[in-house]
Amino acid sequence: MAFNARKFVGEKTEEVREQIGGKTALCATSGGVDSMVCAFLAHRALGKNLIAVFIDDGLMREGEPQKVTSLLRSRGIRTVLVRAADDFFRALKGKEDPEDMRKAFRDTFYKTIGKTVRKYKAKFLIQGTIAADVVETKGKIKSQHNVLAQIGINPRKYGLNVIEPLVTLFKPDVRKVGKALRLPSSIHQRMPFPGPGLATRVVGEVTPAKVRLLRKATAIVEREMRKISAFQTFAVLLNDRATGIRKGKRAFGNIIVVRSVQSKNAMTASPTRVPYAVLEKIQKKITTQIPEVTKVLYDLSPKPPSTIEYI
Ligand code: XMP
Repeated sequence: MAFNARKFVGEKTEEVREQIGGKTALCATSGGVDSMVCAFLAHRALGKNLIAVFIDDGLMREGEPQKVTSLLRSRGIRTVLVRAADDFFRALKGKEDPEDMRKAFRDTFYKTIGKTVRKYKAKFLIQGTIAADVVETKGKIKSQHNVLAQIGINPRKYGLNVIEPLVTLFKPDVRKVGKALRLPSSIHQRMPFPGPGLATRVVGEVTPAKVRLLRKATAIVEREMRKISAFQTFAVLLNDRATGIRKGKRAFGNIIVVRSVQSKNAMTASPTRVPYAVLEKIQKKITTQIPEVTKVLYDLSPKPPSTIEYI
């Protein structure tokens, strides 16, 4: 039977309202499709009893904390910005293994949320976990940052009661829910952006300097690829280096990968057939504007055997 988004919105709004029962709830919102749709659904159910929380973990794209919080506020959603970048970088320091990095991110994320819940005397955390997050985490492909109870971690460890209104849905239906909630298409058709942000695109230890470099490359890639339709398009910073030439001298520089994929629900994906001229322009901009980079590559790998992100 076809998914009925309006019916889903009606039922979930009622369910969330009943579960929260006039108390205060927080909704963690990174600006990605799932957490934005979740915040708007929760706001419809709870109105002023909902506080959207944007955690500035230092791993977001250019201008993202300001863009996301002002968008939420412009729609009448009470929103707080929590600055926690130092905590996240401290937790990620020295970690090179992808699963160690993901677990460190998850732990810092929920500790930060736990503190915020106590500060605002909230009783519940509403989060936009979707079916694919659970499938991948339980399938031991990668530990998505927003999956706890399903893998035996009791959210009470962080002082939280968690509600996940979208957990039965895959991405295409989440977008339909966003449309049914009358969100602008710039939100429900937005490119997915993972909760752990740019950390999923730094191979090896995540440091503030590496994230700064990757943030610049990401902005270039997103800008130059804006006319090319894709499920996700982004830049990645590898852990390796390669010999290049700067000012006539040897330079052992960084390597940026351009990744763009077509996908319906993120469970499988194929590389976007990007016109060569666009790739050349991206290469030129990156190596000109970011002198530390000496090589730019395009990733041709489908999922499987690859995954979309790099860690
Ligand atoms: P992968 O890399 O597993 O990604 O092919 C599948 C989809 O999930 C996103 N992703 C995440 N989203 N928390 C999230 O909220 C995470 O920890 C996470 N890891 C990957 C990824 O961007 C893609 O859309």
